[in-house]
Amino acid sequence: MISAIYPGSFDPIHIGHEDVIKRAANIVDFLYVAVLDNSNKKHFWSLEKRLQVIEEIFKDYDNIKVVTFKGLLFDYCKNNDIDFIVKGLRNSLDFQLEIDMAHGIKKLGDVETLFIPCSIECSYISSTLVRDMYSTSKNVENMVSQQVLKSIGR
Ligand code: PNS
Repeated sequence: MISAIYPGSFDPIHIGHEDVIKRAANIVDFLYVAVLDNSNKKHFWSLEKRLQVIEEIFKDYDNIKVVTFKGLLFDYCKNNDIDFIVKGLRNSLDFQLEIDMAHGIKKLGDVETLFIPCSIECSYISSTLVRDMYSTSKNVENMVSQQVLKSIGR
């Protein structure tokens, strides 16, 4: 069975993340969606809320499990027998960051990173953009799913 992990802050999850998650779950047998537990960082949403909303969005997918992780992705993969790390790429800036991380992880051992280009219509969307739009009362309906809108009271 081939398993992979798709990590992120998901603060909040948006349709670009969802697109990559669904496509990755079609490629591998089992996909972990791993929410970074970083208590040092100030978040828009608590860890619990991020987990709960992602679980709600993917509740009908048998091969997707939402988990949290702390520390290095490499260690999480080794401890849980995960074969691949999946990263979504929107543009060359993402590529620059992610290729360095992929090389760093590969230096630690045998964990490959798979890149999935995001769908073109999602290429401008980020959690930062969603938070900035939301906090200034702008419409975020085209960037997040119903479960997120419900959670932010829209
Ligand atoms: O959604 P984000 O905030 O862009 O996600 C960043 C994330 C969680 C993917 C990244 O911070 C990460 O992988 N952190 C784990 C630390 C790690 O394994 N770093 C690689 C060292 S070689």
